[in-house]
Amino acid sequence: MDARRAQYLHELGITAWRQRGAPDVGRSAPAAGIHHAQTAQAAANLDWEGLEQAVKNCTACGLRAGCTQTVFGVGNRQADWLVIGEAPGAEEDRQGEPFVGRAGQLLNSMLAAIGLRREQVYIANILKCRPPGNRDPKPEEAATCRPFLERQIALIRPKLILAVGRIAAQNLMATDTPIGKMRGRLHHLDGIPVVVTYHPAYLLRSPGEKRKAWADLQFAVRTFEGKQT
Ligand code: URA
Repeated sequence: MDARRAQYLHELGITAWRQRGAPDVGRSAPAAGIHHAQTAQAAANLDWEGLEQAVKNCTACGLRAGCTQTVFGVGNRQADWLVIGEAPGAEEDRQGEPFVGRAGQLLNSMLAAIGLRREQVYIANILKCRPPGNRDPKPEEAATCRPFLERQIALIRPKLILAVGRIAAQNLMATDTPIGKMRGRLHHLDGIPVVVTYHPAYLLRSPGEKRKAWADLQFAVRTFEGKQT
């Protein structure tokens, strides 16, 4: 193994890459491809502790250099409901926990409105590092980070995913369909029902849309209850 690959693996917290029989991604692959392939391959085998460490150590997309800390996710690792947002904002970057700013407070209220405490669900983001100035995640950043989220989903095995906001919904479902067309119908990711609603930060700016978000939440509850036979 050459020194550069060893360094990537070290950054991911992986020490037994070859021994686990992972395929060689090839030295001629572009750097981003190597990062992505190795992140994906590595994350798929990790337990919670290893995954959290791998996220902490990841420098694959470059955002880590500009943020304070990674924001892994929080909540019940056996949750029925998984809430997926976009990326850490300033307050999340400071505290190391998703949805702790104003949008987070509204998210808590949205969950409470359907009888869920924040601690009952699991909350994660598409990106684990804050983009500078809260800009939208770039597609390659989302793609590089995705194996971490996929492993979180695989470990939790939620009964329902609530995608909050356009970025989360479009990235999760790999589409550029506008959020207004995605909400109100049921999507699936690896067999898991996915319900889309507006981002609480958007609802803070456009309170007139809260009625639609409430309808989405009720749709999510109906969907979830339909699965509880
Ligand atoms: N917005 C998000 O999408 N995620 C957070 O964690 C905070 C704000």
